[in-house]
Amino acid sequence: MKKRIAIFASGSGSNAQKIMELFKHSQEAEVALVLTNNPDAYVLQRADNFEIPSHIFDRKEFYESDTIVEMLKNMDIDLIVLAGFLWLIPKSLTDTYPGRIINIHPALLPKFGGKGMYGERVHKAVLAAGETEGGITIHYVNENYDEGEFIYQAKYRIDKGDNLEMVQFKGQQLEHQHYPRIIESIIKKIKK
Ligand code: GAR
Repeated sequence: MKKRIAIFASGSGSNAQKIMELFKHSQEAEVALVLTNNPDAYVLQRADNFEIPSHIFDRKEFYESDTIVEMLKNMDIDLIVLAGFLWLIPKSLTDTYPGRIINIHPALLPKFGGKGMYGERVHKAVLAAGETEGGITIHYVNENYDEGEFIYQAKYRIDKGDNLEMVQFKGQQLEHQHYPRIIESIIKKIKK
């Protein structure tokens, strides 16, 4: 029986795209649901293109009701993947899916993490700090921003003169290269 993945994303969803591509023909797992807090998120279009159902929710539903947890249980979700999802995961979710929620962060945690550190802001902070290398961190999710156990990190070099676009590009290349395959290796270890 195929294992089932739910992706949470708030924006473009380029990582979600790579993940949906990988699992489209997988015997091991499928992306069963895409969830977002943002009705304008391009990830919704991407989900449609793969004929994957999606669900849009607001703060009240996410933090003050059980509907998301119930939906994930009813849909028999085995792994939750955050791909550019910007809200803190509530305890009800981390309690229901211990060790089954993972995130990608566009920096070498524990540096450049925490509340408010997402997307472009992270890359700007990395550049402002004069770092000579950047990277990505894939980690388990707990109730605090960017604090769960690390699963994988990869680095890129920041050359003199690299601007925001360049650093973003290098980081995104690493994310697309590694996130789907790391998810695949985690999925293989899950017993259904
Ligand atoms: C990615 O770079 C991801 O690492 C970052 O949001 C971007 C989403 O891009 N996540 C965070 O910053 C979480 N703190 P995408 O929508 O194109 O996949």
